[in-house]
Amino acid sequence: KVLEGLDVESLAKYISSDKCKKIVLMLGAGVSTSAGIPDFRSPGTGLYANLARLNLPFPEAVFEINFFRRNPVPFYTLAKELYPGKFRPTPTHSFIKLLADHSLLHVCFTQNIDTLERRAGIPDDKIIEAHGSFAVQRCIDCKVLYDDDLMKEKVTAGEVATCEECGGYVKPDIVFFGEALPPQFIQTIPQVGEADLLIILGTSLTVHPFASLAEMAGRKCPRVLINLEGVGGIGSRPDDLLLLGKCDDIVRELCQALGWENKLEEEWEK
Ligand code: OAD
Repeated sequence: KVLEGLDVESLAKYISSDKCKKIVLMLGAGVSTSAGIPDFRSPGTGLYANLARLNLPFPEAVFEINFFRRNPVPFYTLAKELYPGKFRPTPTHSFIKLLADHSLLHVCFTQNIDTLERRAGIPDDKIIEAHGSFAVQRCIDCKVLYDDDLMKEKVTAGEVATCEECGGYVKPDIVFFGEALPPQFIQTIPQVGEADLLIILGTSLTVHPFASLAEMAGRKCPRVLINLEGVGGIGSRPDDLLLLGKCDDIVRELCQALGWENKLEEEWEK
């Protein structure tokens, strides 16, 4: 076994040792809920439970490319609520920044489109936005880029942006169901196999191919799940560690065990 015990102290000891040099992270919506952004699948509070008002045939339709082509209004309604700028990174994001500062962060794979990783100061070259983001947008037909400021105006006004060249609907470069993941994601997959530690935070591990990354960690790489609930069969390997609870709470505990508690709060206050 790589970890001495299955607890936060053993994890902190391993992270502080010279055996742990490359940490790979997999993030989901649960790392941003404390910022005020709902996740997707939590019963009651998740976005999919609250989309009835949008008259969708089924909740995921809001992120289906074929549905968007017919009716982009539900997506734009949601985009207005989720638009980046309104939200501030969480202590969990600050913890990831600290990992980067300690040269321990190998790759941070995220499914989140809220860009809070960048806002927390995590270096761009360490972040793989597997499901894209709101950072740029383009026409779904002719693919011409659409201006950032104009997009912001449209989204804030609750209007659908249309292409100035061909009139097609404009969509942020968020990966919808039915679309390919970005090439950077595909190219970076092999780096999971290089990890000395995999930490999975705030995701239900239900959406593939992202969820499959967890299976690509080497047999000697401990896998840690920090989440409200057990997911994705994490726990099936001897070095799997389940830390169930709110990620900010668990990250604070871990930082305390690492002696980083003051650094964490300082980073988060920034
Ligand atoms: P989900 O909503 O499916 O899962 C979020 C997970 O985080 C759940 O297991 C929650 O229990 C957990 N959670 C919520 N708040 C938490 C907290 N404060 N601390 C710890 N855990 C918490 O979200 P994702 O797994 O990110 O795709 O969803 C994956 C993809 O499905 C998304 O990227 C999105 C969606 O369809 C696209 O938009 C393309």
